Amino acid sequence: MSLEIELQDVTKTYEPGPTVVKSLSLRLEAGSTLCIIGTSGCGKTTTLKLINRLIEPTSGSIRIGGRDVLSQDVIELRRSIGYVIQEGGLFPHMTIAENVGTVARLEGWQASRISQRVDELLGLVNLEPWEYRDRYPAQLSGGQRQRVGVARALMCDPPIILMDEPFGALDPITRNSLQDEFVRLKADLGKTIVFVTHDLGEAFKLGDQIALMDAGELLQMGTPTELLEEPASPFVADFMRTHAHHKPPHEMIVDDVMVSDTVTVRIDGDLVPGPEDLMRRLDKFRLRSAVVLDERRKVAGVLSRQSLERQDIRDWGELVDASPAAVRSTAALADVLDQMLRTGQTEVPVVDADGLLLGTVTRKSLVECFEPPLTASGSLPAARGI
Ligand SMILES: Nc1ncnc2c1ncn2[C@@H]1O[C@H](COP(=O)(O)OP(=O)(O)OP(=O)(O)O)[C@@H](O)[C@H]1O
Ligand SMILES: [Mg+2]
Repeated sequence: MSLEIELQDVTKTYEPGPTVVKSLSLRLEAGSTLCIIGTSGCGKTTTLKLINRLIEPTSGSIRIGGRDVLSQDVIELRRSIGYVIQEGGLFPHMTIAENVGTVARLEGWQASRISQRVDELLGLVNLEPWEYRDRYPAQLSGGQRQRVGVARALMCDPPIILMDEPFGALDPITRNSLQDEFVRLKADLGKTIVFVTHDLGEAFKLGDQIALMDAGELLQMGTPTELLEEPASPFVADFMRTHAHHKPPHEMIVDDVMVSDTVTVRIDGDLVPGPEDLMRRLDKFRLRSAVVLDERRKVAGVLSRQSLERQDIRDWGELVDASPAAVRSTAALADVLDQMLRTGQTEVPVVDADGLLLGTVTRKSLVECFEPPLTASGSLPAARGI
């Protein structure tokens, strides 16, 4: 089950002090991931807490699956929402298994059912249950604790997950591998996810939609490509350029320029989803081809728009172009650039070490990284810490 989230004209004022969220309206489709990004103090955490009613709005309405959250029983509401807070927020005196199973124990699940589910979730986040379930949080690395936090949020299979900078305090390598896992998990679980981050690269990689906030206001919400190609204001354009890339192009890897805009399709005799649906999704993301996945979610090739437009198709499998090579997210940027120039590919699927799809490098995402970070007026922007 997955549910959509809708905020309408939501405002939060701390009387008599500041208004920290201003007339915020947004709609997130069921099963998709929204990354909220913006400068420190702009209202990201407040927005998350408004959704699960840890904070009550001063005005406006918040609906989940069409139901007003304010009219629901708070306990019941929170049961339907997993919440991952920064640094995991684990109880230090409880073992990992006890931490993950907390809510299920409160719900009165049988011990054997809890134990089975805890093991299943630890496996899902790549922590071997036999090795980790009886340890205490202090005996885990920061990245492992974050994974436990994610497992805990999933325990009772909530349709909604809120994540507040869950990978914030990690080194780049651990962060990267957790992001890759997140991409895989979100494909498998089909939850509606709101994910707060400081890191535009992370938002590009994980978000189906990105919401850029500043000083309590939503400046723009859209796909990564929409924010890049159609910034709603000079501020958005500046933000995208200034925060997009911190490294010179020759030091960059594929992961630095990858975007989450991908359209996938399976061929199961017929196309899943059907050709019209697929074309609509390609239009939405302005992509020229869909990535064909096999039953293990591995990349099997691509299917172009031209193929979809053809009539009298007997065997979709024959139209799949298996030759355009996918690239590893760890490959040097120069290699994928070379490949695109050589083959004329405009979109290259990006995969992890197991061949599972992580995202896409598009011509646009690649061109971005060679543009100097200029402001709309053409001058170099002032450093803006986030
Ligand atoms: N209880 C409160 N009373 C008054 N102001 C508050 C209160 N709680 C938070 N704020 C203010 O609300 C604003 C938004 O806070 P919030 O925690 O949502 O920011 P954030 O975007 O998550 O920032 P960060 O990236 O640093 O985590 C901040 O300016 C903060 O000082
Ligand atoms: Mg915050």
